[in-house]
Amino acid sequence: MQWLMCPVCRENLGLNERTWGCAQGHRFDLAKQGYVNLHVVQHKHSKQPGDTPEAVDARRAFLSAGFYAPLRQAVEALLAKYQPKTLLDIGCGEGYYTQAMQQHVTDCIGVDIAKSAVQRAAKTNSKVTWVVGTGAVLPVLDQSMEICTSLFSPIPQQEILRVLKQDGLCLVVTPAPQHLYDLREQLFGEVRLHEPEKFVTQLSDDFELIESQVVDAPFVLKQQDIQNLLAMTPYAYKARPEMRQALEQQEQLALTASFQLYLLKKKARAAV
Ligand SMILES: C[S@@+](CC[C@H](N)C(=O)[O-])C[C@H]1O[C@@H](n2cnc3c(N)ncnc32)[C@H](O)[C@@H]1O
Ligand SMILES: [Zn+2]
Repeated sequence: MQWLMCPVCRENLGLNERTWGCAQGHRFDLAKQGYVNLHVVQHKHSKQPGDTPEAVDARRAFLSAGFYAPLRQAVEALLAKYQPKTLLDIGCGEGYYTQAMQQHVTDCIGVDIAKSAVQRAAKTNSKVTWVVGTGAVLPVLDQSMEICTSLFSPIPQQEILRVLKQDGLCLVVTPAPQHLYDLREQLFGEVRLHEPEKFVTQLSDDFELIESQVVDAPFVLKQQDIQNLLAMTPYAYKARPEMRQALEQQEQLALTASFQLYLLKKKARAAV
């Protein structure tokens, strides 16, 4: 793996034993779980950035029950179709999708700003290069990746452009308009539909849309699953506490998750 970038001097990093290092002498040791922390203090804005350990645990429990497996399959099908060799998963969380994507590429890097998420991710698949880092300065070299993926995570457009090869791809997964409609109706009474196309508009100067797909996943949740889902989504924090509690006490809840997938391609630039 030769794609990591030193977060201090931006030279390439090489792995020697259990330490990543650059020619300038900057050194980053692998943690015992096997990930590397490239989130240097110069780029840090808070002590515990990203998702909280509680949200990470709830997401792990919910995802490992398989409720979002149709999305994982759809993402894998796209990779099988386009066959990129190098992949950077931005905001990889605890790696549910990253570990599956790894099986379709040669080099797979997962980056997340939340150390607790990457610590858990690192235990799932040792073939992924797991990095604690920030989307603001992606931890890979210029024009090194054939695809960047962002599943429900930040989309740092300029950085994605920098790290993608010519004709590189960008997969964005975001809630479709009807995502978890019944859950949101019970939390808020009135539901504002998600507007996924705003991401395509935002990216349209630099990327052309080549595939758009909605994947639905219907499921019935038991009480513990409902609690996990509420703990991993931002919805619950915006709802009135009594609405959340009423939902958490339900024995069972039938819902449909609805995901919007966009596959975009980096536009060719006029020669400067
Ligand atoms: C909703 S979670 C999605 C996680 C994973 N992609 C999944 O679908 O299971 C969003 C993730 O983005 C991470 N994140 C937020 N801001 C970030 C940033 N600036 N750089 C890198 N990761 C970030 C959070 O820590 C969190 O793990
Ligand atoms: Zn360096």
